[in-house]
Amino acid sequence: MLDRVDLHVEAGTVHALIGPNGSGKTTLLNCISGIVPPDAGRLSFRGARIDQLRPHRRTSLGLGRTFQNINLFAGMTVLDNVLVGAHCRTRAGLLRAWTRMPFRAVAEERLAGRRAAELLELVVLAGRAREAAEALPLADQRRLEIARALAAEPTLLLLDEPAAGMNATEKRGMNALIRAILAGGCTIVLVEHDMGLVMDLSTVVTVLSFGQKIAEGRPADVRTDARVVEAYLGRDA
Ligand SMILES: Nc1ncnc2c1ncn2[C@@H]1O[C@H](COP(=O)(O)OP(=O)(O)OP(=O)(O)O)[C@@H](O)[C@H]1O
Ligand SMILES: [Mg+2]
Repeated sequence: MLDRVDLHVEAGTVHALIGPNGSGKTTLLNCISGIVPPDAGRLSFRGARIDQLRPHRRTSLGLGRTFQNINLFAGMTVLDNVLVGAHCRTRAGLLRAWTRMPFRAVAEERLAGRRAAELLELVVLAGRAREAAEALPLADQRRLEIARALAAEPTLLLLDEPAAGMNATEKRGMNALIRAILAGGCTIVLVEHDMGLVMDLSTVVTVLSFGQKIAEGRPADVRTDARVVEAYLGRDA
């Protein structure tokens, strides 16, 4: 349940969304990406209302996401997972090709293949393109999910606990990956329990507790906010 949560994400930033288990972080991402319809409220993306749009339309507009419970296409290779992620872009290309020049379709396909290879480089999976996605270790699956989301060329990427279950080395890799995505011009909403990552990467941190926003501000200010400390300690005790 979410209750009157007001969130403004500035372009070109990492905006963290934190809070105890069950505080509504994933629910908020589901509302933004269109998986869960909110009972009330408004949602704008790059100046236009998107409340009524279905999830795939939001993806086409540049809204990408990954899932807390990894949601890769089982039975598909690593490469195919990324190519499917590019579908919302390449299909438009194919349509153009059919109505105009057939050789365009081939060009589009080649471009998608090149782009997928680049994305696999970025997420350090270039050597595993032909492997079955579900056979990858967890940390690799999380990075593959990000590559698949990036294939749709998002301008806003929602990451739901991208470093969950990762060791310290893998977390450093995730930190670098998130920085690279940001440097590429993509804004990021980061749901993450690892406070090291949150503090290091975020421009703004929003804190949820029991579905409500209880604090928001710069990482250093939020971490010492009395309500935030209480929300975490209250749950852990
Ligand atoms: N579709 C739904 N309908 C009703 N309640 C839901 C729904 N989805 C989640 N909830 C409830 O809403 C609350 C928030 O859940 P949510 O998964 O968003 O928390 P979270 O902050 O992502 O937690 P975690 O850190 O454990 O991932 C929980 O109490 C959950 O049981
Ligand atoms: Mg969650």
